[in-house]
Amino acid sequence: MKRIVILGTGGTIAGQSRSAGDNVGYAAAQIAVADLVTAIPALSGFALEAEQVAQIDSKDMDFAVWRRLAQRTAHHLARDDVAGVVITHGTDTLEETAWFLQRVLAPDKAVVLTAAMRPATALAADGPQNLLDAVHLAAQPGARGVMACVAGVVHAGCDVRKVHPYRVDAFDSGDAGPLGYMEEGSLRRLRDWPHGVPLGLARVLREDWPRVDIVMNCAGADGALVDALRALGARGIVAAGTGNGTLGAPLEDALLRAQAAGVAVLRTSRTARGRLIDSGDAALPSAGAMTPVQARVELMLRLL
Ligand code: SIN
Repeated sequence: MKRIVILGTGGTIAGQSRSAGDNVGYAAAQIAVADLVTAIPALSGFALEAEQVAQIDSKDMDFAVWRRLAQRTAHHLARDDVAGVVITHGTDTLEETAWFLQRVLAPDKAVVLTAAMRPATALAADGPQNLLDAVHLAAQPGARGVMACVAGVVHAGCDVRKVHPYRVDAFDSGDAGPLGYMEEGSLRRLRDWPHGVPLGLARVLREDWPRVDIVMNCAGADGALVDALRALGARGIVAAGTGNGTLGAPLEDALLRAQAAGVAVLRTSRTARGRLIDSGDAALPSAGAMTPVQARVELMLRLL
């Protein structure tokens, strides 16, 4: 039997609260990933290996952890005795890590991110079932690409986004819809595995990542933030536009000035679903179906 490697990065799935009834006043990233694994008797039938890559609340995710995570994931995927990798992660920035890993590694084995909305000490913790499902998913014959598996739903890494601050089914795939569902250890797959051309690890191992920020169009938005970001040395700016990626005139003017000065700009929508439909004469390039946070990761990767 081939191994599944479980890389721990922290999150609520490894969180602890003082009282079992408290699902919000807890500390994330307290329990070692090896202990999360041994607490699930149903995992005993798998050949597993656990490794702690980080122990953080994912709101504090940074580029150093991403570099380490990409390195460790690539290292284990290259082993002949490993079928796939599972990553335990906080829910808050899971979608950014998923985009990052899919674009950098585009693996031909499964890399499954999983998480929990309730701490491990909760009365009805969701983490153990999510971790069990994630291991089953990583072990499915032919499974490949970066995916997220939470609340029994499987999302492609480039589609997943967090859509709810509290419910256990907090993730969604936007208009793409889920890749499938985990049902008692089996995947009911609705569409193809995630695939793509990897950008490669070498691109992200340097430490001087470019500064890329997000500015949002909203009532009364002007160009002051864009000018301030240019002064801070931003090399890229993602505009979270209204509706179909539209921008108020003062903000658009500031972004056009930034672009003319060599700052890379991508336009997205602040709405939750869909993709930008361009008329063909847009002066600021569209990021298509990317959410603002996905587009920020993408722009950083392009600038690297
Ligand atoms: C985190 O993202 O690490 C905390 C929140 C969560 O995992 O739900």
